[in-house]
Amino acid sequence: MSTFHLVDHPLIQHKLTIMRSVNTSSKDFRELLNEISMLMGYEITRELPLRDCEIETPICRTTQKKISGKKLAIVPILRAGLGMVDGLMKLVPVARVGHIGLYRDPQTHMPVTYYCKMPPDIDKRFVIMVDPMLATGGSMSDAIAKVKEKGCKHIVAMCLVAAPEGVARVQKEHPDVDIYSAALDEKLNENAYIVPGLGDAGDRIFGTK
Ligand code: PRP
Ligand code: URA
Repeated sequence: MSTFHLVDHPLIQHKLTIMRSVNTSSKDFRELLNEISMLMGYEITRELPLRDCEIETPICRTTQKKISGKKLAIVPILRAGLGMVDGLMKLVPVARVGHIGLYRDPQTHMPVTYYCKMPPDIDKRFVIMVDPMLATGGSMSDAIAKVKEKGCKHIVAMCLVAAPEGVARVQKEHPDVDIYSAALDEKLNENAYIVPGLGDAGDRIFGTK
């Protein structure tokens, strides 16, 4: 079974509360999402393996640590996942970025794929899937399956707000994928929106409503 990590640092909770408010502008929403993504990335990259490396300081030779092994790929689920990329890229500027275009059919709530473009060596990378909203879990689960088709073995999912239904679905369909979220909300409503949630993340990021 995968682990659900609640990344609830006080700074993250404070910023998320502002994002949830209906009175927050698209500009502020985007900036806060960017900031939270960076703070969450700090936690997600905590387990990156290190290797010894010898360097010379102005004083002496010394053995210190550098990140070793697998390189990173960030895979946003379009559109809303795009809002989480820059924050992570600030931490790991050499990360590669793959894109998965998915939208949720408004009637069936089933994900529909319209785009997929991955770095050629994605199978050798540690993959962070990003999407602010984990509602039914259909979009994240399908996106993870697409990345696994490319041969990826080490994948985590990062979101901002999760519903229990979405967490359960991803854990059932991808027991090898840990989930990181800034909040675990109460439930889904009759339109499969997260309650209390923050509304439609894509619309709030891009000002499309
Ligand atoms: C939203 C969100 C997720 C999905 C979550 O995207 O960004 O991708 O819904 O719902 P699920 O867990 O029930 O699948 P949306 O379909 O609104 O597309 P958009 O990002 O282009 O607005
Ligand atoms: N997609 C969103 O953007 N918000 C929700 O609450 C559910 C799905």
